[in-house]
Amino acid sequence: MTSPETNILVCVAWPYANGPRHIGHVAGFGVPSDVFARYQRMAGNNVLMVSGTDEHGTPLLVQADKEGVTVKELADRYNRQIVEDLAGLGLSYDLFTRTTTRNHYAVVQELFKGLYANGYMVKETTQGAISPSTGRTLPDRYIEGTCPICGATDARGDQCDTCGNQLDPADLINPVSKINGETPEFVETEHFMLDLPSLHDALKAWLETREDWRPNVLKFSLNLLEDMRPRAMTRDIDWGIPIPVEGWEDNPSKKLYVWFDAVIGYLSASIEWAQRSGDPEAWKEFWQNPDTRGYYFMGKDNITFHSQIWPAELLGYAGKGSKGGEEHAFGELNLPAEVVSSEFLTMSGSKFSSSKGVVIYVKDFLAEFGPDPLRYFIAVAGPENNDTDFTWDEFVRRVNNELANGWGNLVNRTVSMAHKNFGQVPAPGELTDSDRAILDLAERTFASAGEELGRAKFKNAITQVMHVVGEANAYIAEQEPWKLAKDQSQRERLATVLWTALQVVSDCNAMLTPFLPHTAQKVHEILGRTGVWAAAPRVEEVTDSAGRELVGVGLPDEGQTYPVITGDYSAQQATWSRVEVVPGTELAKPKPLIAKLDPELGVTGPEWAPVQQ
Ligand code: MF3
Ligand code: ZN
Repeated sequence: MTSPETNILVCVAWPYANGPRHIGHVAGFGVPSDVFARYQRMAGNNVLMVSGTDEHGTPLLVQADKEGVTVKELADRYNRQIVEDLAGLGLSYDLFTRTTTRNHYAVVQELFKGLYANGYMVKETTQGAISPSTGRTLPDRYIEGTCPICGATDARGDQCDTCGNQLDPADLINPVSKINGETPEFVETEHFMLDLPSLHDALKAWLETREDWRPNVLKFSLNLLEDMRPRAMTRDIDWGIPIPVEGWEDNPSKKLYVWFDAVIGYLSASIEWAQRSGDPEAWKEFWQNPDTRGYYFMGKDNITFHSQIWPAELLGYAGKGSKGGEEHAFGELNLPAEVVSSEFLTMSGSKFSSSKGVVIYVKDFLAEFGPDPLRYFIAVAGPENNDTDFTWDEFVRRVNNELANGWGNLVNRTVSMAHKNFGQVPAPGELTDSDRAILDLAERTFASAGEELGRAKFKNAITQVMHVVGEANAYIAEQEPWKLAKDQSQRERLATVLWTALQVVSDCNAMLTPFLPHTAQKVHEILGRTGVWAAAPRVEEVTDSAGRELVGVGLPDEGQTYPVITGDYSAQQATWSRVEVVPGTELAKPKPLIAKLDPELGVTGPEWAPVQQ
């Protein structure tokens, strides 16, 4: 476990603003990163959690073409939709913003200039793809072909999803244009390359100190060191951040590569957060204090960019490669402490994908079931360690058997009996061994489940907490308080059993809070307590007015407004430790906590995502 009041920076991968979120998007890292951040806050740490929508690059261009709208319209629409989806899930970002802000552009240009000044951005003539029929440049994502490294036949011009390697379009074997199937032609074009070979040794030295990473992530990252070539950080594309070099900045058809700018979002969002929170220097604590730990959450297809490209950008900017160099405006910035990557959520075996019609939208899910059933499902059955199939059948079973019959029932019968027999939290008499056993188990689990959460082991953590819930239900079955209630001479024993059960309910509720924050707030109130236990994020409309110095053409307008997710999480009462239940606290008759689902749903699925027979 981390010691109290560590600074924890939680960096969550930025979703492309090219469509609404489906549950595959939020299962791998959206919900897990929030469970992690909520746990860290409860443990007393100083947390900053940032992300936003990723709005440059060909994924947006492709979709805008498809929808027949401008990229800007597309980005605005889906930024808003994604903000709604993520806030609806209760994801407690300190700031969820977007990459088309003047602040982001300014921070990205500063990083580029620093890298360039230090010699890590070098100009090279490369092979660029054009469409022979139109003469227009073909962005990397529009080109598909066979991966030269692993042989997969569906590699894209920028990356192979099968082996995870980054590619250049000219590397592909048998490249074809996705637009019309023609074979692209390659012509000479100039680009700025990130000089990875001169950062190789620094990257290697850093990676070799990362013993605590998940072994697959570390092995993959170390492997990347074997083949470090310069990588183009600019593109022939008209949508993106202008290249801040004289003679390049006003060229409307050359921009920075989307991945160069997206990873810088973690820093620019922290800077924007500081600005908005009224202390413009506050980001420095999270980026310059070497004791701060930065945790990066993402899907496995993003590892390369977080364990190689982003650290390389940071090292080069600080002048730490073999070419040396100086520190620039932002100083020396922390490298990631942890890269936590997840596998994929699949449905009937195939990766969730809007384009293939294999899709369950977060929005529909929330409208029908609310956030906590999905959060629970993701925590116990999500793709933490393996690609994992989502089925309605399993969803229904877990919600009904574990959440409703397990947790909901424990809360309900405990509080109902205490309400009916005492109208308040009763005062206990002497404790028996069985009372002490269940109380000790609950108390111990704070330590053991907390340790798992601190290591981003979500399944282990929730399994331990649900074990306590099961044991507490067994304790009640054994003690039979309903029998004690019929016998006037057992009144004190009844009080003791119910007090014990209420304390364990309170403990389990605390430990379930990172997973089920909305339910936890309800249980807090059912236990007769007041105020905010688990804070919820809010959506706020803000203005992009920061006076930033930017160069180039195609910049975001000053004064545009956009929605962000933010929140005041320091005001919540939730802590990762036992809160004693206080005898005499008034209790009301509880309403059912968790709605049971119709078992039919497991067979048919809902109308908006029917099970394919
Ligand atoms: N938009 C990318 C994707 O969906 C993820 C970007 S993560 C970032 O794969 F941090 F680099 F922004
Ligand atoms: Zn490959």
